[in-house]
Amino acid sequence: MAKLNWGMIGGGKGSQIGPAHRLGAGLDGAFSMVAGALDHDPQAGRAFAGDLGIAPDRAYGDWREMLAGEKGRADRCDLVTVATPNATHFEITKAFLEGGFHVLCEKPMTMTVEEGEEIVKIARTTGRICAVNYGYSGYSLVRHMRAMVARGDLGAVRVVVAEFSHGHHADAAQADNPRVRWRYDPAQMGASAQFADCGIHALHMASFVTGQEVERLSADFASTIPSRQLEDDAMVNFRMSGGAVGRLWTSAVAVGRMHGLTIQVFGELGGLRWSQEQPNQLYWTPTGGRVQVIERGEAGLSPEADRTSRVTIGHAEGMPLAFANIYADLAEAIRAEKGGRPMDAAADLYPRAEDGLRSMAAVHTAVASAREGGVWMDARPPMLR
Ligand SMILES: NC(=O)c1ccc[n+]([C@@H]2O[C@H](COP(=O)([O-])OP(=O)(O)OC[C@H]3O[C@@H](n4cnc5c(N)ncnc54)[C@H](O)[C@@H]3O)[C@@H](O)[C@H]2O)c1
Repeated sequence: MAKLNWGMIGGGKGSQIGPAHRLGAGLDGAFSMVAGALDHDPQAGRAFAGDLGIAPDRAYGDWREMLAGEKGRADRCDLVTVATPNATHFEITKAFLEGGFHVLCEKPMTMTVEEGEEIVKIARTTGRICAVNYGYSGYSLVRHMRAMVARGDLGAVRVVVAEFSHGHHADAAQADNPRVRWRYDPAQMGASAQFADCGIHALHMASFVTGQEVERLSADFASTIPSRQLEDDAMVNFRMSGGAVGRLWTSAVAVGRMHGLTIQVFGELGGLRWSQEQPNQLYWTPTGGRVQVIERGEAGLSPEADRTSRVTIGHAEGMPLAFANIYADLAEAIRAEKGGRPMDAAADLYPRAEDGLRSMAAVHTAVASAREGGVWMDARPPMLR
């Protein structure tokens, strides 16, 4: 099978998330990295692209140059990943979708709900894929959780509890360090800090595993380090489209917590618990029964989990491999489109522009609710009500 051509914007040398994308896209050999505008500094971007083996004529200095260069090629990129800082996602994603490219955009997809709605409309009218990198939804046992809920193992879901709480910004003495300070500056972060950065991963996870959307929410935001203008801790209560009660805690001052993404789903017939720091175990307790440990890679898991399990049972499987599963979904979607055939339903799980839009609506609703002392508000984006 011919390889798909892949390009990247952002993710330059020393970036946090660039390596996980390159590992993820490369894992199955489905994508070949052929183009990039990798850095805000054109020279550094071209040099690093060369280090990665990208041909000089496709090692671009900036994304506009890349768009112009790729558009005219017969072997143009089949997929472009946008992994630049948040405020640039909208204009780059919009331009590449309008240029006819499929896009995987890092979260948050946009800064405003209006921009999010525009991206959804463009993706729908152009028929291009606009995926959003809620990469944790690629973990095999997260897919299994979703399958268990969908096939009714839990019965009706009563409560979902999602957390994304770490302690990396807890040191007040470091609050003015420029590497930390910008994250709590509205001019650079927008309306929300911790909830928009980490909380939306947990909120997406709650929707992904339950198959329900967030409809209403009430938020309490706190800046526990007083010099911060934006929140470093948030508690969000929500209600979901299928009747589930949702609770979400996200924090940057939870000393002792490392990554801190966990999801628990409690239904009539049992409860599930999964933590990103121990991704190979899923804890399942049937109502009235004992705790059972479901291991990634064991026999009898759902097709969605089998498809996304990559190394032998008992070996560690982590975040870049979860990203690889998003890339595998996208490779299948693009190949199905090229071949004029339906895609494998087990792969049709990658997060969409609609998910990115729902997150933005939740962020802005939570900000407004917190300002109003926690008033319950409609959290749905206007175009999806
Ligand atoms: N999905 C996840 O789990 C996850 C995890 C971490 C970060 N992210 C997201 O990924 C994005 C990048 O985060 P990061 O932590 O890697 O940031 P970073 O600051 O470490 O790296 C950003 C990279 O983008 C480059 N860049 C900046 N402006 C550019 C431009 N206009 N054109 C081309 N390149 C440009 C920089 O030179 C740098 O190489 C953010 O939106 C962040 O929210 C997602």
